[in-house]
Amino acid sequence: MKKIGIATTGGDAPGMNAAIRAIVRIATSRHLEVVGFHRGYEGLMNDEPKPLTPRSVGGILQLGGTILHTARCPEFAARRGVRKAARNLLRSRVDGLVIIGGNGSFKGALDLSRETDALIVGVPATIDNDVYGSDETIGFDTAVNTAISEIDKIRDTAISHERKFIVEVMGRNRGFLALTAGITAGAEIIIVPEIRLKRENMFRTLEENSRKGKKSSIIVKAEGAGDADELAGEIERRTGSEVRISVLGYAQRGGSPTARSRLLASLFGEKAVELLLSGQGGRVVGLQGGGVSMISLEKSCGTEKPLDMNLMVLANLLAT
Ligand code: F6P
Repeated sequence: MKKIGIATTGGDAPGMNAAIRAIVRIATSRHLEVVGFHRGYEGLMNDEPKPLTPRSVGGILQLGGTILHTARCPEFAARRGVRKAARNLLRSRVDGLVIIGGNGSFKGALDLSRETDALIVGVPATIDNDVYGSDETIGFDTAVNTAISEIDKIRDTAISHERKFIVEVMGRNRGFLALTAGITAGAEIIIVPEIRLKRENMFRTLEENSRKGKKSSIIVKAEGAGDADELAGEIERRTGSEVRISVLGYAQRGGSPTARSRLLASLFGEKAVELLLSGQGGRVVGLQGGGVSMISLEKSCGTEKPLDMNLMVLANLLAT
């Protein structure tokens, strides 16, 4: 192994820069040359990579986003695109590649690993926290903290006006962010894509709450778990009380990474370089039971990470 490449792909996540910094500095200390492909798979297919050095990654640890930029790349979904990237890796004489991204990015990495001799390692970074094989992804903790600091503020106005609020957090397909933000912000109700909402149960909870003297409620809903307007209308009709909607949106993807996101990025970066140096490609690094671990790309891509149902039960118990 002489030269490794790095690309950040899919939705950005706070801590991607910390991961780039860790990979560059660890790899350089092990006498590897490091280059970066810009705009994810788009750059991997089309561009000459740019050198990355310990100095060029100075001052980025605390920055959200990714200095390598990222993109959603439909062209890469086709085999032609994957082969193009494989040829570019060969041309650039890159023999190890670190893909920093989420579940979708790793599916692309798996396809690419079948077309190239370069070793590929995935570093999980997504606010969706949906990578199988890692209890947590880089950026998740930051997004949860961003969400709960907004929900805390919404709680103030909800209490003052005795209103119900639907707060929509990110998560097109998965509810990890909604569940963790919901439980840590004390949401009365949490709605996630993985669990079919039983509306009658929700109305019963809201009615019981108001009987017990709760005049306001926060419903945290993942973006992919139904339509907020429609839900608000139904709650207003059933309970006769005002409902407001607050969509937290893209702010959840940005901002300075928390200590936890930076630490994960540093640990994952180190592990990724170690794997490449020991000749182990086709892997995703991760956190399992508190320790840094790894599983095969294939297993990670082919398995859906389960939502912790005990957390949902706990959330309901705590919201009484
Ligand atoms: O980064 C993950 C995620 O935030 C999802 O929760 C969300 O649905 C999606 O990305 C939206 O990203 P974009 O608009 O960039 O495609």
